[in-house]
Amino acid sequence: MPINFTEQSTLHVGIIMDGNGRWATGRGLPRILGHRAGVEAARRVVEAAPDSGVGILTLFAFSSDNWRRPPVEVDALMRLMAVYLQNETPRCVAQGVRLEVIGRRDRLDAKLCAAIAQAEAATAPGRRLWLRMAVDYSARDAILSAARGLPELSRDALERAMGPPLDLLIRTGGERRLSDFQLWESAYAELVFTRTMWPDFDAAALAAALREFRLRDRRFGAVPQVPVYRQQAWLD
Ligand code: IPE
Ligand code: IPE
Ligand code: MG
Repeated sequence: MPINFTEQSTLHVGIIMDGNGRWATGRGLPRILGHRAGVEAARRVVEAAPDSGVGILTLFAFSSDNWRRPPVEVDALMRLMAVYLQNETPRCVAQGVRLEVIGRRDRLDAKLCAAIAQAEAATAPGRRLWLRMAVDYSARDAILSAARGLPELSRDALERAMGPPLDLLIRTGGERRLSDFQLWESAYAELVFTRTMWPDFDAAALAAALREFRLRDRRFGAVPQVPVYRQQAWLD
């Protein structure tokens, strides 16, 4: 049955896939081999997501600030992303995954743009998982460009122009910051930070993050959703 991506029961999970470089250098390997291992982790997580109750998965692959890296690393990342899209398209089609790339396109090379267009067209009917890859993505730029496209600025109009709100935001690699990822959509996201480097992340790590998420009491500014006897205990 096709899922309705706006249904409450399907979660929107965002992942800042961080730690590829440290995973590699810690093993005496060049950073690019960490990025290659990171592609394998992305494949594992995309495969595990739909059966874990994840309906929307937003993966941070390349930030607008990542252009500041050495050109040889940037080139390697661009090539890896194009190869990933080409290789994964048939798998996404078979698994009912709709792939979409968010972020700027005008600074990407023609080969990567063609791979994105091809992957998006081929996977458009997928309804098991909506996979959003953030490439040349900046949350601040995304908010600005959505706001600029509105005839009249209001919170509701901007909310509709932005992507779906995040339920759970995971960052691997040990850092505890958002690095310009989904700043609007994370207004009430639960944050899970793990020291696991992205190339070591797998279905079990995703399941652990989801378990932690389910233990959280999401209040959205309201009062705690806890049993009355526990509220009584606080009064004592
Ligand atoms: C994440 O890993 C991948 C990208 C940002 C493209 P890093 O390359 O940032 O890895 P670390 O943080 O240097 O270990
Ligand atoms: C964030 O990681 C971007 C991606 C994972 C694509 P960075 O490694 O670029 O973030 P900082 O520089 O540590 O904040
Ligand atoms: Mg990093």
